[in-house]
Amino acid sequence: DAKASLEIDGKIYPTDDWTNVTPKILSYLGVNKHLQRNHPLSIIRQRIINYFYACYRNSRGNPLFSVYDQLSPIVTVEQNFDNLLFPADHVSRNKSDCYYINQNQLLRAHTTAHQADLIACGLDNFLVTGEVYRRDEIDCTHYPVFHQLDAVRLVTKDTLFGRNLDLEIFENDWQFKVKDAPKPETSSKCLDQTKQMCHTLEAVKLMEHEMKGVLVGLAQDLFGSQLEYRWVDTYFPFTQPSWELEVLYNGKWLEVLGCGIMRHEILQRSGAHNNIGYAFGLGLERLAMVLFDIPDIRLFWSNDSGFLKQFNEDNLHKLPKYKPISVYPQCSNDLSFWLPLGVDVDAGFACNDFYDLVRSVAGDVVEQISLVDRFKNRKTNKSSVCFRIVYRHMERTLTQAEVNEIHKSIADACVETFKAEIR
Ligand code: PHE
Repeated sequence: DAKASLEIDGKIYPTDDWTNVTPKILSYLGVNKHLQRNHPLSIIRQRIINYFYACYRNSRGNPLFSVYDQLSPIVTVEQNFDNLLFPADHVSRNKSDCYYINQNQLLRAHTTAHQADLIACGLDNFLVTGEVYRRDEIDCTHYPVFHQLDAVRLVTKDTLFGRNLDLEIFENDWQFKVKDAPKPETSSKCLDQTKQMCHTLEAVKLMEHEMKGVLVGLAQDLFGSQLEYRWVDTYFPFTQPSWELEVLYNGKWLEVLGCGIMRHEILQRSGAHNNIGYAFGLGLERLAMVLFDIPDIRLFWSNDSGFLKQFNEDNLHKLPKYKPISVYPQCSNDLSFWLPLGVDVDAGFACNDFYDLVRSVAGDVVEQISLVDRFKNRKTNKSSVCFRIVYRHMERTLTQAEVNEIHKSIADACVETFKAEIR
């Protein structure tokens, strides 16, 4: 029988039909790879923090930004979505994309989840870093737990315009105009890059200019001053206008961060109604994989000394290229099974459910999974799926017997969990 509650770190959480966290996923809470000495994620984190410390100082020479790197990843739906103005029907709220503890609480899907709370605490320049949790496919660049760093900078009229006393952050009577205006289109297909109605054009342009300058500076600090980059318009529910910064690396455009002018409703609700702000967020693994040449995201979880000893945070400005200890052979096995009558991919069976099951049963020896075939039997009307599972251990060679055993456990778990019938 299903448990009605879950204990995490000594605290009891009610469970319900939204609950989809697995013991395997919960085991990542508190691991804090981004704070582990000499770990590549920690090195990139410190480089970014130092850059911000150096960029923004007060009149006494002290850093303006404060850093929050150990906030609990257990957040509410309000924190992760509502406070950030995600529409009620936004796809990223789906159970198939997030790890829910219950219908009100989840493991944060981005570190932006803490933004509104920290502003409400009275903070105006801060960085938040920690691990985030997303249900996703399995390959060398995706892992259900990864690390992000977010930043917020709020300014007042005085900081923004200095002695230009005649300039304003806000349009005079914008409250009245907003009431009559049509509701903004919040679909991700609609890239509304116009400024928010409440802001003056000069405030937005100055903020945009400062933000882009600082972020290009950060990219140059990490990738070198010769870097080629471009700004791409995008959409986030919590910023407008919004951009992504892409950098050219080994001949490919690589998305390194998302950013924008913060939606004023968020500031208003958090008591910062006199401010305008910018925010950005980036993924630490993505940057570390590129900057250190780390080929597989699972390596960040490795405790192998052959991996860890290659990184040394005493010299933050020398980022060594990772030398593979050796590459062990892959082993690929297919798994085909019939789903119960009426169930199909996207009709009661989400591939992400299968990926989580594999993570739980097999752990990190699975390098990649792909759905290679779907079939419907005309007579029985049942659907079957075939997944190709690629096994590879990061630190040694797996024997065929070991792989067969793991593969069998996955098959057994499928029968049990999905009421599947192995073909
Ligand atoms: N939270 C966004 C993401 O996970 C990144 C972001 C943060 C974008 C802050 C804009 C402002 O992709």
